[in-house]
Amino acid sequence: MKDRFGREHNYLRISVIDRCNQRCHFCMPMDMQFFSPKDVLTFEEIVTVVKVGNKLGIDRVRITGGEPTVRPNLPTLIRMLKAETDVKDISMTTNGMLLERFAQSLKDAGLDRVNVSLHSLNAEKFRRLTRLGDLEVVMRGIRKAMEVGLTPLKFNALILQGFNDDEIDDLFKLTLQDNVTMRFLELMPIGEAMSLDGFGSYLNLTKVREWLTEKYRLVPVEETKGNGPARYWKAPGAPGKVGFITPISHKYCDTCSRMRLTANGEIRPCLAYDVHVSIRDAIRRGDLAAIEAGLKEALWMKPKGHHWEEGQTTQTVMSTLGG
Ligand code: GTP
Ligand code: SF4
Repeated sequence: MKDRFGREHNYLRISVIDRCNQRCHFCMPMDMQFFSPKDVLTFEEIVTVVKVGNKLGIDRVRITGGEPTVRPNLPTLIRMLKAETDVKDISMTTNGMLLERFAQSLKDAGLDRVNVSLHSLNAEKFRRLTRLGDLEVVMRGIRKAMEVGLTPLKFNALILQGFNDDEIDDLFKLTLQDNVTMRFLELMPIGEAMSLDGFGSYLNLTKVREWLTEKYRLVPVEETKGNGPARYWKAPGAPGKVGFITPISHKYCDTCSRMRLTANGEIRPCLAYDVHVSIRDAIRRGDLAAIEAGLKEALWMKPKGHHWEEGQTTQTVMSTLGG
C-alpha cells in the first residue's frame, strides 16, 4: 500500500482504548473527555479492519491506547488477531502499570513483545510526570514481561530539558548492564505537550547522541527487531542498545510506514495532522469495500511529513492518537 510519495505502508498502530491509569503531563489532560463506550470499536470490529488491511499489505500491528492494558480482556483480542489475521508481528506499547498482572496471559495469547515507558529512574520524579504512575510497580511489570519472554523489550524515555535530562547517563547505563534497549524520545508539539509548565522543554537528542557517542564510543547497530522510527547504537561489548527517536532534529518522515486506527474507528494517516477518515460506520455496516476505500482515502491524504520545526502544532492529544 503506497502513498502519494511512494512510501510503502505495512504497519498499523491500533489504539484499543483512549483511557489510561496514568495522566502524563505531556499526554492527557486531567479533564479529558473520553469516547462514549458505544463509539469504541469491539474486538471483532478491530479484527475486521486488520483483515482488510492484510489485503492491502498491513502485516504488523502495535496495540496502543491510552493504556491498552486497561481495556478489559485484551488477551482475547491478541488471540483473535493471531488466529484470524495474517499479521506477522504483534507488539504493544504500555506504561507497564498492569504488566505484572497481565504479561503472562498476553504472552500466552500470542503477543510478541512490548515497549514500556520509563521516563525516570527517580520514583518521585516519575510520579510527578505521570501523576498516577508508580515506578516500583512498573519495574515489577518490566521484570515479569522479561521473564515471560515479551522480548526484545524496549524502554521509551521522553527527555525534557530541565526535568530528566540529568538522568540520560543513568538511563543509558542500563544498556551496559542488561540486554535491554533504551530509547530516548524528543518532545513533539502535540496536544498537552504544548503546555508543559514546569516540566521542562524540548531537547535536541541528536546532540545528546553525539556526546554519548564520544563518551562511550557508540557504534551504529543495524539489526534490531522493530517497525518504528528509532535508530540504534551500542557501546562496544555492551549487552544492550540505545535508540533515538528524533522527529525534530533528525526527521524520519521520508521512511514512514505507519497509519493509526483510533479507538473510535478513525484512520489517522499522520501523527502530526488532525486529518482523518472515520471508518466506524463502514465497519458497523460490515461493508468491507467501504473499509478498504477508507484506508486508501486516508493514505491518499497523508502529507509528506510534519512541519513541527516551523511552528506547526497538532491539536489532538497524544493519548487519543496512541503515540
Ligand atoms: P518498534 O516496532 O519497537 O520500533 O516500535 P515503535 O517505536 O514504532 O513504537 P512505540 O509505540 O514504542 O513508539 C515510540 C514513540 O516513537 C512514539 O511514542 C512516538 O513518540 C514515536 N513514533 C512512533 N511512530 C511515529 C510516527 O509515525 N511519527 C512520529 N513523529 N513519531 C512516531
Ligand atoms: Fe510519519 Fe507523520 Fe510521523 Fe512523519 S510525522 S513519521 S509522516 S506519521
